Amino acid sequence: MPQAPNLPAEYATTTLRDGVVSLGTRPFPHDALRADTVLIKPHHLGICRADAKEVVGSRDVPEDRGPLFGHELVGTVAFAGARTGFREGELVTLNPNITPTRTTGFAEYVFVHGTEAQLDQAVVRVPEAGIRDAVWMPEPFACIVHALRRLLELTALTDLRGRRVAVLGAGCAGLTFALYARHLGASPTVFNRGEARRAFAVQQGLLAAEEIHPLTDAKAPQHQDRYHVVIVATTVSTTELLDTASDLAADGAVLFVYGGTRRGDTYPPGRADVDTIRRAELIEPVEHHGKRLHLAGAYGCHREDYEEGFRLRAEHPLAFPLEKLTSLRIGLDDFPRRVTDIAAEREDHPGKVIIDLAP
Ligand SMILES: NC(=O)c1ccc[n+]([C@@H]2O[C@H](COP(=O)([O-])OP(=O)(O)OC[C@H]3O[C@@H](n4cnc5c(N)ncnc54)[C@H](OP(=O)(O)O)[C@@H]3O)[C@@H](O)[C@H]2O)c1
Repeated sequence: MPQAPNLPAEYATTTLRDGVVSLGTRPFPHDALRADTVLIKPHHLGICRADAKEVVGSRDVPEDRGPLFGHELVGTVAFAGARTGFREGELVTLNPNITPTRTTGFAEYVFVHGTEAQLDQAVVRVPEAGIRDAVWMPEPFACIVHALRRLLELTALTDLRGRRVAVLGAGCAGLTFALYARHLGASPTVFNRGEARRAFAVQQGLLAAEEIHPLTDAKAPQHQDRYHVVIVATTVSTTELLDTASDLAADGAVLFVYGGTRRGDTYPPGRADVDTIRRAELIEPVEHHGKRLHLAGAYGCHREDYEEGFRLRAEHPLAFPLEKLTSLRIGLDDFPRRVTDIAAEREDHPGKVIIDLAP
């Protein structure tokens, strides 16, 4: 059995069973430290909307990658098996899109098992040492980097210069889309239903007041038929929101679906398979009130998307102040109650909720 003298006899971890989240102490499974294991000790965790969806069971869990519950993290490699290619002490984050053989991130230790090739994709080195102080989550940024890269590939564009981009939803995803679209040369306009996220985006200096509007403004004549790209980044991409997005779109525009879809969802109703378009990252023509639109989407991310995210942060720190997306920091003890309340919509935070683990 591998020697792991610095590891404890027990550790705290979370379980999600039948919609109930609990935190408990478990014996540390030293026999799980194998040649194909990377053990991560998280410093910081993020709560994602997908975590809340899994608590209430409103998310389809893909079998190839497993549940997302506890996937946003930054931590240190506490043990690296001989066949992993990693070393103890490396600063890393997780790509949850690679293998289901991993334990939840909402814990003092996270076990990731896989072949060297899988681990090379699933555990991503973090080059930004300052992330421990100015905390941000690489995974949601990598997903946006990936999504806009796919958008450009699907539309054969090299950038968004001169394009008017509308974003529905000013959650963490919508705001990050706006930052990146602006960096790619677009003028972003964000629409958000509730006041709290609109105020947060402006207070944090992420958007100028004139860049963000109430969702009801999307119906105003000056916004109709205007945008070259409309990104739907809300919790769920409902038909009503996709209709709003289509109204905003100019003839020939791209409707880009990022927010949740489920198996069997179609848009326009009964027409394009929007869930497959999002998950398989396709582009298909659709029609809306006589307008020709292209329905496209993106899902997940790869290691190179993380690396591109780190490069963007390093080279353009002012364009990507992602640490400002955080609106609450809590301890692991407080996590089960908070995530349960967020999932039940008793509690809502305009930005990211970060869990700080004791050093
Ligand atoms: N494709 C991918 O790879 C990928 C990756 C990560 C996440 N996602 C998707 O992105 C979604 C958003 O993530 P997030 O981190 O930005 O979540 P978030 O921070 O919780 O934000 C959710 C946003 O959705 C809006 N919203 C919720 N219900 C709405 C409704 N009925 N009508 C209008 N707006 C509504 C919220 O507006 P209010 O302020 O008005 O509540 C808020 O702007 C997730 O749910 C997930 O499905 C996709």
